[in-house]
Amino acid sequence: MKLNALSSTEALLEKVDVLCVPSSKERAAFIYDDVLARIIHADALPPFAELLAMKSNPSFFFGHWKGHRIKVVFWCEGEKMTEASAYSLAKKMAIKVRTDCPGTTGLVIHHLDNTQVVQSMFAGWTAGQYDIGLYKQADNAIHKNINGEICTYLPATVDEAVVKDGITIGLVQQEVMNLVNTPANHQSPASLGAWASRSAAQYGYSADILDKQHLITLGMHALLAVNRGSEQPAQCVVTHYKHPEAKQKIALIGKGVIFDTGGISIKDSKNMHYMKSDMAGAAAALGTVEACARLKLKVEVIAIAPITDNSIDGLAIKPGDVISSYAGKTIEVIDTDAEGRLILADALAYAVKEYKPDVMIDMATLTGSIVGALGPQAAGLFSKNDQLASSLAASGDQTGERVWRMPMYDEYHDDMQSDIADIKNLSEKPYAGAITAAKFLEYFTSEHTSWAHLDIAGMGFQPNGFGKGYCATGFGIRLLVRWLSLHAS
Ligand code: BES
Ligand code: ZN
Ligand code: ZN
Repeated sequence: MKLNALSSTEALLEKVDVLCVPSSKERAAFIYDDVLARIIHADALPPFAELLAMKSNPSFFFGHWKGHRIKVVFWCEGEKMTEASAYSLAKKMAIKVRTDCPGTTGLVIHHLDNTQVVQSMFAGWTAGQYDIGLYKQADNAIHKNINGEICTYLPATVDEAVVKDGITIGLVQQEVMNLVNTPANHQSPASLGAWASRSAAQYGYSADILDKQHLITLGMHALLAVNRGSEQPAQCVVTHYKHPEAKQKIALIGKGVIFDTGGISIKDSKNMHYMKSDMAGAAAALGTVEACARLKLKVEVIAIAPITDNSIDGLAIKPGDVISSYAGKTIEVIDTDAEGRLILADALAYAVKEYKPDVMIDMATLTGSIVGALGPQAAGLFSKNDQLASSLAASGDQTGERVWRMPMYDEYHDDMQSDIADIKNLSEKPYAGAITAAKFLEYFTSEHTSWAHLDIAGMGFQPNGFGKGYCATGFGIRLLVRWLSLHAS
């Protein structure tokens, strides 16, 4: 699929067969007025208001421009056009092209005169062409025949570089989706580390792999404890991109569990295969650093990804075990399936001690509890810092990667107190599981005043149209790239 930006309305009308118009319930995006007026007047069609009142979504009509037949599709996404709706529209259109009409030549989305919207469109079109058939051997009509061309009008007020930036964000999102869709027998701590090293070499940033021996020397006891049942040694992958003009240092910490069996507290086998996605937080953190480097954002950003399997073996940790941690705090492991918080405890404490970041954001497919609370519509956002929380929420709303703030009352910490150790890894109360998990993490942040935790368990992997079942989303890339470009330079 070719993506094309044209700065002439006429050239665009000449070229396209389908004109897809982002619209609110009231009207089409204003920048279409001139283009649509030409088509509509040619065919004496009813005014927009009537066309848009058609209840079907998208509604469409056939028009002509200088004898050229054009299908005009009005696409309504919610009440008003936002960056989020532009993105989801763009994503849906790309999927539609590939699944419904492979080979369509010329699909156009005109849009608001807004840099972010142009960027979202191109990011959406690029990500929307993602092919989940990683291991398919034969060409497949759905996945391979994308011969069309998507064109858009590039308003004079929008810098052409924005098109490239959008495509870059979409490409990084695709890479992250690949990492998350890759099954556990094709993925390991070493392979994720190798991905990071390759990316760093290619895009000019640094990658440090802390191997098992190094983790032992550092005293990352909680990460090593989770790794005990695994054949593959744990790693902590640290990537670092710094623009010379950056003013703040941002640490992104991502849960990297290659596969979560639950350990000795073994999971039910129903849907256990989804647990290949338990490294979506790590993939998002590593991908965001790659995106920052490729976009040359004026930021300093460090990704810290503790990576291991959570497997079952004679050596695996058992419920009731007491382990140590990088922070020197002891942890009673009530449930070996609450492993994400253990490896993040070490990574958070390491981030604080080693990097002293101005802001620290972790992403983790941490709890089923957050899926119960928010479903596949938003990630849980946990932070005591109002400014950080509201800026993340705003970036989420704008990019369509929504986060919803949850409470962090200290009373919840009481449920994590252990009789035998400094803290336990499970509250044992039948409620507030996502919050008590966040309180556990907080215990390892040295009371950092600018820390946010994103529980992305419902967002990293979900039924999202790329296949018949669950599929990676690349959640976090667009949200963080947007947040970083607004708040960290
Ligand atoms: N990886 C899971 C959480 C998860 C659940 C991610 C659903 C994606 C979808 C995590 O390690 C886990 O097992 N959490 C347990 C915690 C419990 C034992 C306290 C859970 O949520 O059930
Ligand atoms: Zn688990
Ligand atoms: Zn897990």
